[in-house]
Amino acid sequence: MRNKQKHVVARVGEVEPGKPIVREIKGRQIGIFNLDGDYYALLNRCPHQSAELCKGRITHLSQSKVPGEVEVSRVGEIIKCPWHGWEFDIRTGQSWCDPDSMYVRQFGIKVEPGEALVKGPYVAETYAVSVEDSYIVVEM
Ligand code: FES
Repeated sequence: MRNKQKHVVARVGEVEPGKPIVREIKGRQIGIFNLDGDYYALLNRCPHQSAELCKGRITHLSQSKVPGEVEVSRVGEIIKCPWHGWEFDIRTGQSWCDPDSMYVRQFGIKVEPGEALVKGPYVAETYAVSVEDSYIVVEM
């Protein structure tokens, strides 16, 4: 089994809630999301027909138990594909309509202090890492 590399993709603070960024890692477009300080990394490709998922709208769940009453929840945790509107849970990558068989690939992500990154083994192609800051790291 190959070891996963740890890629520095952004400084904490560069990814705002509701505004994912896209980084290319090993030739793949990866969307980085911030949900109130929890970070998630999803492949920027819809499993339906390969649209760029991160160009979709960040939305919420709308559910109804009785006609005429709509309950809104999980605001900012769902992304809607820009092409045909399929919705995916940013926390799990799962399709809202077909969670058992349809999902967007997820990658491991965490926040590391600059002090740890300076020691390695991290790949930081585009970042000058400073020990005073914290960084978002994706494993793949
Ligand atoms: S390409 Fe995403 S829903 Fe069709």
